Amino acid sequence: MKIYLTGKLPSIAFELLDRSKLDYDYHKKDTPIPRKKLLKEVHNCDGLVCILTEKIDKEVIDSMDRCKIIANYAVGYDNIDVKYAKKKKIIVTNTPDVLTDSTADLAISLLLVTARSLIEGSEYLRAREFKTWKPELFLGMELKNKTLGIIGAGRIGTAVGMRAKAFGTKIIYHSNHRNNKLEKKTGAEKVSIQNLLSNSDIISVHLPLNKNTYHYIDDRKMKLMRRNPILINTSRGDLIDEKSLIKYLKKNKFRAVGLDVFKNEPHVNPELLKFKNVFILPHLGSATSEARNGMAELAVKNVINVLKGKPPLTPVV
Ligand code: DGY
Repeated sequence: MKIYLTGKLPSIAFELLDRSKLDYDYHKKDTPIPRKKLLKEVHNCDGLVCILTEKIDKEVIDSMDRCKIIANYAVGYDNIDVKYAKKKKIIVTNTPDVLTDSTADLAISLLLVTARSLIEGSEYLRAREFKTWKPELFLGMELKNKTLGIIGAGRIGTAVGMRAKAFGTKIIYHSNHRNNKLEKKTGAEKVSIQNLLSNSDIISVHLPLNKNTYHYIDDRKMKLMRRNPILINTSRGDLIDEKSLIKYLKKNKFRAVGLDVFKNEPHVNPELLKFKNVFILPHLGSATSEARNGMAELAVKNVINVLKGKPPLTPVV
């Protein structure tokens, strides 16, 4: 039995693998595994642990001779052709829960940073432009009594709502399902997407990326947004139509935009970097030791379980 990991995970992963007595190997370089190497390595592996930069498409799956499980080191699994893997009787797993708090913390950080122009303020100071205190220098927006619209009220959306509640923010949400926990704990109200877009001071996107949600925030939805909202995305870049985003940024539609994810990562559209009210991070949502250790443990346990004839802990259904 051989396990292949497409990247170097936190050490807990290797401790568990050593203890399992299963054979394993991994891509040791810091740069993403070259496609050719990936196709070669998956050929003889019984279990694969992959990271979100690898596209596990039909070609990769067809190169698998005896692989039983693809364990994604991420909660989002848009990088994997799950339907095709299932057709080939390969189990796919992800890493839910362990990164919820970390990602929700980051969404709230983006909210605070954008609402208070913190980065602009810091850059202004570093540029030695701070000559004197002024009554109207970098005036921000308080969160109390503002409306936060959460699109996609799953685990992370719910955790963001709970945190925002502490600021006295009113919460509305749009989701396929009613979220009793969010409603009970925050007084949130489930609304139509039109209602959410036109009434939210802050819009935070927490959807999975799939063919139904690609460019979910499109031109039409941006048009429906009230004037001057803050838009936050910590999910996947392709949920937002960046071309339309740039168009509306040019029209001064947004108070600010906070992105932890963007189209074609790591290649950020240079147009986006021109706007002072756009704050972009290099996909850091789950970048805490707690979350990354939890993800490593879960991904590796999923593979070990399946290869030892046990059910996976977190299968993608
Ligand atoms: C995920 O898990 O989907 C994040 O984007 C990376 O941790």
